[in-house]
Amino acid sequence: MNLCILILIAIKFAFGLSGNYFSLEYNKRISGEGYQYKSVSCVTEISCAYKCSVEINCCVANFDANSQTCYLDMSGSCYSAPQHEKSWTTIRRAREDLFNWSPWSKCSKTCDGGIRTRTHQNRHTTIDSAGNVTSIESCHHFGCNDTAINCNSWKTKGLLDSQTEFIEPITSNGIQLPAVQIYCDMEMENGVGVTVIDHDGERDVYVHGYEAHGSYSFNVTYDIPFEHVVAIIDSSQFCRQFVRWKCFDAQMWDGGNQKWNTYWTNRSTAYLATNEYKPPSLFFHGSEKKRICECGISQTCQQSNVLCNCDINDSIWRSDEGYVTNKDALPIVAFFAGDTGHSMEKGEHFIGPIECYGTA
Ligand SMILES: *[C@@H]1O[C@H](CO)[C@@H](O)[C@H](O)[C@H]1NC(C)=O
Ligand SMILES: *[C@@H]1O[C@H](CO)[C@@H](O)[C@H](O)[C@H]1NC(C)=O
Ligand SMILES: *[C@@H]1O[C@H](CO)[C@@H](O)[C@H](O)[C@H]1NC(C)=O
Ligand SMILES: *[C@@H]1O[C@H](CO)[C@@H](O)[C@H](O)[C@H]1NC(C)=O
Ligand SMILES: *[C@@H]1O[C@H](CO)[C@@H](O)[C@H](O)[C@H]1NC(C)=O
Repeated sequence: MNLCILILIAIKFAFGLSGNYFSLEYNKRISGEGYQYKSVSCVTEISCAYKCSVEINCCVANFDANSQTCYLDMSGSCYSAPQHEKSWTTIRRAREDLFNWSPWSKCSKTCDGGIRTRTHQNRHTTIDSAGNVTSIESCHHFGCNDTAINCNSWKTKGLLDSQTEFIEPITSNGIQLPAVQIYCDMEMENGVGVTVIDHDGERDVYVHGYEAHGSYSFNVTYDIPFEHVVAIIDSSQFCRQFVRWKCFDAQMWDGGNQKWNTYWTNRSTAYLATNEYKPPSLFFHGSEKKRICECGISQTCQQSNVLCNCDINDSIWRSDEGYVTNKDALPIVAFFAGDTGHSMEKGEHFIGPIECYGTA
């Protein structure tokens, strides 16, 4: 046993710390599962335990630009970077994150390389004053004019924070479309990179004064061209779009005439001529013939003899809503309504953004 190890054992007993005391962290994610850790058989402690307690950025002092590493130990003490790493370091994957870290900050830059930080509190009372220790890593190395096919591949390029990016979607025939700007949500779905397509119908739109079946129409205008929307949906594994109809004595289904009053229309209607009849689509998930809403499928309608809450027609505000998840039907092209012609009858529709992720 060499002197170095003896000293470390002495430190270990003195500080009463757990077995991983000598693991220094490489603050670098090497996969989704863990961080790269460096276990070092001997390190040189520099007197920055105190520094750490008073100066949040103490680890900047111990930041190794080459390895993008901040050297810390479990106690929150800082160590100087080893001078000659090769001979006495091994790199292993940690089974768990040994530090009780705060979430990462946002990257300091949206592109062209920035840094982000996180802290953990020094919980060890052996070091006189408690303080937080900061670690740093670099982020967002891609160029400011870079593009990708969707937000899923932006994730692969290293995008960490939700922001607007350029994408060049590829159609199902393999044609690369011109770049457009889109919002990448990096928090939803555990940060896999959700492509969010917005439009002008993401609000409650009031409807009153249209009695005939589907005589009211709202044509959804997407922020990007329709063929881009279709290409993004087709190339994703999952897509969803929320739709809601709030109703006051405005029935969705006209049982007497066996016709829908209120419905949305699907992708295929976008290719019909302007004056051509746009047949209703599923409302919301079921088939048209079954005239079923989300509450009918989940058997949670507010009255047992209906398949849509809006068919209750009892002068109380009701609502039918749900996510359309059938990719072949998406996007929602238009919303139609009727049975809002009489004085008390009215409704409000809300259509959510399209949210797509995964690779088809
Ligand atoms: C240390 O971090 C904790 C929680 O992360 C926070 O509540 C506290 O204010 C921080 N202390 C200092 C000195 O910044
Ligand atoms: C990025 O695009 C802008 C505007 O299109 C252009 O002015 C700029 O030169 C581009 N930068 C790079 C690094 O290509
Ligand atoms: C929506 O588009 C249809 C044609 O598809 C048109 O007949 C209708 O007037 C449009 N509605 C609105 C509110 O623009
Ligand atoms: C719905 O309710 C209104 C007001 O109570 C009533 O006038 C109307 O006839 C009802 N519609 C149907 C189809 O039952
Ligand atoms: C789209 O709507 C049309 C007209 O209602 C229907 O025939 C078709 O099956 C729908 N497509 C999908 C994928 O739901």
